[in-house]
Amino acid sequence: MAESMKGLKRSHRCTEVSNALIGQQVTLMGWVQKRRNLGSLIFVDLRDRSGLIQLIFDEDTIGTDGFAKAGKLRSEFVIAAVGTVEKRSGAVNENLKTGDIEIKVSELRILSEALTPPFPIDADISVKEDLRLKYRYLDLRRPNLQKNLMLRSKVATSIRSCLTEEGFLEIETPILTKSTPEGARDYLVPSRVHPGTFYALPQSPQIFKQLLMCSGYDRYFQIAKCFRDEDLRADRQPEFTQIDMELSFVDVDDVIEVNEKLLHRMFKDAIDFEIPLPIPRMTWQEAMDRFGSDKPDIRFGMELVNVTDVVKDCEFVVFQNAIAAGGTVRGINVKGQGDMPRKKIDALVNRAKEFGAKGLAYVQMKSDGSVKASFSKFMKEEEMDALVKAMDGETGDLLLFAADKNKVVWDVLGNLRLDMAKTLELTRKDDYRFVWITEFPLLEWSEEENRYTAMHHPFTMPMEEDLPYLDTDPGRVRAKAYDIVLNGTEIGGGSVRIFQDDVQEKMFECLGFTKEQAYERFGFLMNAFKYGVPPHAGLAYGFDRLIMLMAQEDSIRDVIAFPKVKDASCLMSDAPGEVDQQQLTDLCLAVDLPEEKE
Ligand code: AMO
Ligand code: AMP
Repeated sequence: MAESMKGLKRSHRCTEVSNALIGQQVTLMGWVQKRRNLGSLIFVDLRDRSGLIQLIFDEDTIGTDGFAKAGKLRSEFVIAAVGTVEKRSGAVNENLKTGDIEIKVSELRILSEALTPPFPIDADISVKEDLRLKYRYLDLRRPNLQKNLMLRSKVATSIRSCLTEEGFLEIETPILTKSTPEGARDYLVPSRVHPGTFYALPQSPQIFKQLLMCSGYDRYFQIAKCFRDEDLRADRQPEFTQIDMELSFVDVDDVIEVNEKLLHRMFKDAIDFEIPLPIPRMTWQEAMDRFGSDKPDIRFGMELVNVTDVVKDCEFVVFQNAIAAGGTVRGINVKGQGDMPRKKIDALVNRAKEFGAKGLAYVQMKSDGSVKASFSKFMKEEEMDALVKAMDGETGDLLLFAADKNKVVWDVLGNLRLDMAKTLELTRKDDYRFVWITEFPLLEWSEEENRYTAMHHPFTMPMEEDLPYLDTDPGRVRAKAYDIVLNGTEIGGGSVRIFQDDVQEKMFECLGFTKEQAYERFGFLMNAFKYGVPPHAGLAYGFDRLIMLMAQEDSIRDVIAFPKVKDASCLMSDAPGEVDQQQLTDLCLAVDLPEEKE
């Protein structure tokens, strides 16, 4: 029974109608949120992306047929209503932007009917995510998701205007391309014209943006789709969006300066939050030592304390062995948790083991003044006193210690720190705390591959003063790389790039590439550098993560219109799917599935 909208033109969105328009005629179109019959009156809440407004139908105004039609309206019908703006006859609804007015409808058209949706279109209802994602087009009608996507659009606009004002050009780079060096697995697209060969979808525009610098564009940005075939988490999607940029004739400070301007502008425009500038900076080493993480959440303390020197002479073999093996002993002080019951402490120990700890030593400074330590029998009284003092321990505190290689100790305590903050509700989502992490190690030793891998990517410039170590001790070379971290999430990262042949060659050498292998993968970039390359540097934000934090959501799925789930499938479209045999034949491909395991 769909009617045409012929002759009607929408005059306002629902919440654009205000009491300034009382007495005037408006034409509204949208979805029926709810209908209530009150005998001689029918009330309908009409919804569009701006919000709700109340329509009121009486037989005198709309006529017998119109009134009967209004009586048939059901949730999610799409309607057009022409009517007069009036002061609300009933009680004012304080919760609604349009709560003091209503529209007395004189003409109603049903533009389309609707099945009963599998879940109510309502912000405050909790629905299983699988169901929401299967019917994503309905989920997207819910006000909370609409708010998030509107925020996303607003931030994109703010970024475009800020960067344009700062002299950046928006340039697109290819999606069908060759492998890019961000370290994840590539998504491949088979070529029909060149059977047996494949494009790779870009993991980032990295190589192309560096080429644009070679071509003289000087300041580039792009809101770019990136593709990475990696294990998904709440803050990772197989395709995601970067705010990507590159600048010529700059060093670390220049990149940071322009990005502080950009961040400030985005947060001001989109959520009216004033970021205090300059954003604090911390070297990677300091971040690891103080927070056990290269993406520290600095909204709360509970910092790590290195107590290796304090315990180095005690008789506790766990500490002794770790120190003898070149490791450290570090602790955190969980304030006010000294009376934590045994069961909960055991859970903490197990949690520590999940992060690779062999165990977790603890000291409970109970509120009755007694002190209980899991390793007290190995400690002299003055040794325990010194340890407690080093940890700033007071009555009521719980001290947790890990002894191991640095990497394990950082991981264990860094994660327990975050766990405890969550349990104790130490943070607020609207407390936005930024920090730059600088001077990352250039290389990371990979136990699996038995070689160094690039911590950021192979084009990242070593710090000048560390260049000599490339030959002698590559592991200690620091890079001109930086991350921007917000509330414990890495929202962006970048680096100054290598632009000298000899440094680049040395870098590839450290990574275990032969010159031939390097040229095979990145030859077009290295060739381009031979024709005059400016010093350059850049950065990319994870746009989805940024919006997630701005919208105070826990998952990037809630700020992406059509996201994928953990196994990288789309529950709505059922992608990925099988293809016709003919398509495979055209591509000279055959599918050879492994035998299904029993
Ligand atoms: P990087 O790999 O650090 O750097 O990526 C930049 C930012 O992108 C976000 N991000 C992701 N977001 C959602 N899902 C994912 N799977 C995902 N992977 C990364 C993160 C990250 O900080 N070309 C370099 C940048 C440069 O050097 O200029 C790059 O891609 O927030
Ligand atoms: P054990 O000697 O294994 O019984 O351990 C004695 C105490 O030390 C227990 O509380 C363990 O949880 C703790 N512990 C064991 N290994 C470590 C470690 N690597 N770091 C910190 N504490 C540990």
